[in-house]
Amino acid sequence: MRYGHFDDKNKEYVIERVDLPTSWTNYLGVEDMAAVVNHTAGGYTFYKSPEYHRISRFHANSVPMDRPGFYIYFRDNETKDYWSASWQPVGKDLDKAKYTTRHGLSYTVYECEYNGISSSQKLFIPRGENVLLWDVKVKNTGDRPRALSVFSYLEFSFHHVMIDNINFQMSLYCAGGSYKDGIIEEDLYYEQDGYQYFTANFEPDGFDCVRDKFLGTYNTETNPQAVINGICSGSEEKGMNHCGSLLKKITLAPGEETRLIYMLGEGRRSEGARVRAKYSDPAAVDAAYADMAAYWKDKCDKLIIDTPNAGMNSLINTWTLYQSEINVMFSRFASFIEVGGRVGLGYRDTAQDSMTIPHSNPAKCKERIEQLLKGLTTSGYGLHLFQPEWFEEDKGDAPFDSPTVVPKADKSVIHGLSDACSDDALWLVTSIVNYIKETGEFDFADKQLTYADTFVNGQDFKESVYDHMKRILDFSAEQVGESGICKGLRADWNDCLNLGGGESAMVSFLHYWALENFVSLAERLGRTEDAAKYRAIADKVKKVCNDKLWDKEWFIRGITKSGRKIGTHEDEEGKVHLESNSWAILSGAADTEHGNKALEAIDRYLYTPYGLLLNQPAYTKPDPEIGFVTRVYPGLKENAAVFSHPNPWAQAAACVLGRGDIAMKFYNALCPYYQNDMIEIRESEPYSYCQFIAGRDHSAYGRARHPFMTGSGGWSYYTATAYILGIRPDFDTLVVDPCIPADWKEFKAVRVWRGTVYNITVKNPDGVMKGVKRITADGNDVERIPAYPRGTSHDITVYMGN
Ligand code: GLC
Repeated sequence: MRYGHFDDKNKEYVIERVDLPTSWTNYLGVEDMAAVVNHTAGGYTFYKSPEYHRISRFHANSVPMDRPGFYIYFRDNETKDYWSASWQPVGKDLDKAKYTTRHGLSYTVYECEYNGISSSQKLFIPRGENVLLWDVKVKNTGDRPRALSVFSYLEFSFHHVMIDNINFQMSLYCAGGSYKDGIIEEDLYYEQDGYQYFTANFEPDGFDCVRDKFLGTYNTETNPQAVINGICSGSEEKGMNHCGSLLKKITLAPGEETRLIYMLGEGRRSEGARVRAKYSDPAAVDAAYADMAAYWKDKCDKLIIDTPNAGMNSLINTWTLYQSEINVMFSRFASFIEVGGRVGLGYRDTAQDSMTIPHSNPAKCKERIEQLLKGLTTSGYGLHLFQPEWFEEDKGDAPFDSPTVVPKADKSVIHGLSDACSDDALWLVTSIVNYIKETGEFDFADKQLTYADTFVNGQDFKESVYDHMKRILDFSAEQVGESGICKGLRADWNDCLNLGGGESAMVSFLHYWALENFVSLAERLGRTEDAAKYRAIADKVKKVCNDKLWDKEWFIRGITKSGRKIGTHEDEEGKVHLESNSWAILSGAADTEHGNKALEAIDRYLYTPYGLLLNQPAYTKPDPEIGFVTRVYPGLKENAAVFSHPNPWAQAAACVLGRGDIAMKFYNALCPYYQNDMIEIRESEPYSYCQFIAGRDHSAYGRARHPFMTGSGGWSYYTATAYILGIRPDFDTLVVDPCIPADWKEFKAVRVWRGTVYNITVKNPDGVMKGVKRITADGNDVERIPAYPRGTSHDITVYMGN
């Protein structure tokens, strides 16, 4: 069953049936102010941090689903009938009201046709301003004049997520809402500068600042008392819960349309007045929207693909890039699942995300990489979850002592080895190498940066990016267990595999991969001594991996502290694992024979039509030596679900072995685009990868959960483009080395690399899956594709064959 379609031309997903089985979300804002919204205008907005500076409230994990939000109500003053611009919160009968939601890149539009009135409400946050615009158009499509009252509604929050949810004897009396000169101002009194405003491009005919006055004590957003009565009560109060509601009465002649523009912003009433003057001009709203469209067009234009796979085209050209960008922006801290109680940067997640899109967002990827390097300890492990602000030079703006201010770092934030994850910082090595390959910024390796521990100790100690990388690699070389394989520590990539002093196969493979990438950088920089030293370590790691981790037909997952191997043919549960087998191949550590067998095991044991399971069979008996994974319900999350994030690793692994057929089979299985017509099973949005899909062992087999905030976004983008299509920059050349199904005859791509446009055509006359026999650039045969001068454009043809 389908609920909507991909509109590739407009880069929108159009939801035609809004009574979805679960919330389908979108992200607004690309700078300091941001919002997460769903298909019925539910959601929340925040300034910089959803934990410390939440502007509007959200009732997480509640009923009704996903409220409140950014609501517009229409009331017919003749009949007293009322409805909302988005289907919820009023929830009109869908046989009588036609609702459509369009999620686009950093905007969402809610359309409604009801009883002779058509309306649209577009939400977006312009660049350069901290304001959420609600651009509302209302048209009388009937043949008689209509008198309507239009009400807006949002619920303010007490900023800090915890304060917003506890100790109400205090928090209820710390904020005030007032109205003056057409502008509602929300004042968080315990903050030095805790103001927001809500205003519009008209002189209101009424207002409410107090939530319970607008809603009525026993009513909800579905049936606000003010809307029923057709009049706001003009409520204001220092204390209690606040809302922003402005009333406008309009009359529309047949065919007449009007445009109401609402502004919910950060700052005082005076700031509201400035922004009101600016966006009361509809041309300014249109210009801001056009600017946002240009912002995304520029990103999407960095790589446009045209392949025989429609789902891949649609996702890579728009949605997976978008998801990857959102992950670099938000790490994992804002969604309807991550509701702001856990913010900051997750070390491993951010490290991986920033590897995936340096071509479309080099500045943000670099910023993230530097923040992570500053969150590295001199011991070489990263702080698992941290606030980047902790390690920034003090700008001297001594904060007012408010509970909503991000606390400063002290020594207690530097967790010890017992809380370190074995994989966290290893990811960063390749992210840095890839950043340099993308941008050609070789001197980035020499940039001097602090470390987390010496910084909080007040030591003036900096080292180069390159030296940070060496510490990361040295840490993993030192932290090995009995067999010489990297220790599992608190966890490796799998948060629920807690091997402690036991050993993680996956991390040793990852270590090998990071070493190989580092060696390539050292060689390119002419640092031959380092290249030789780390090459020797890499060789040793590779040998130990092959000596200790092979088990008849696949690679094991690890070894417990007591020496028990996990993931062997003798195991009844957790016999085959996706992570270690994928990384054995992807890292290049496995030889071809073992690699092919491991890939076969993945295909045989872990493949489902919804993607690859993380392990099989599921664990059913708690086993503290293996970890928390054995206490997760079978078929959910890390215990034998289709955990999306490692899926692209296996796709890339198939490419390393030249198996374009298998890579594409795995890609298509996970690809949400191909689940658009089975939403009764998938439930979640088909334009976003979800964290996991319930596995075979669970009653909800096939049901996807937790959209957007997952490493599968970035990794799917990276694998599809760099491994399957094989388009990836090296230090001095652009590599095009695809691994595709043999029946693909041709594909095209336009790739912008270092300011130069490469119009790439790949031809596959012999029907191979891998191998390049000839390359031409502007009609001439070339060995490699060079970095041409910036601003130029070149036609590249790649002929596959043996
Ligand atoms: C979650 C975490 C990620 C972890 C994964 C597997 O997605 O954000 O860091 O690797 O779970 O446990």
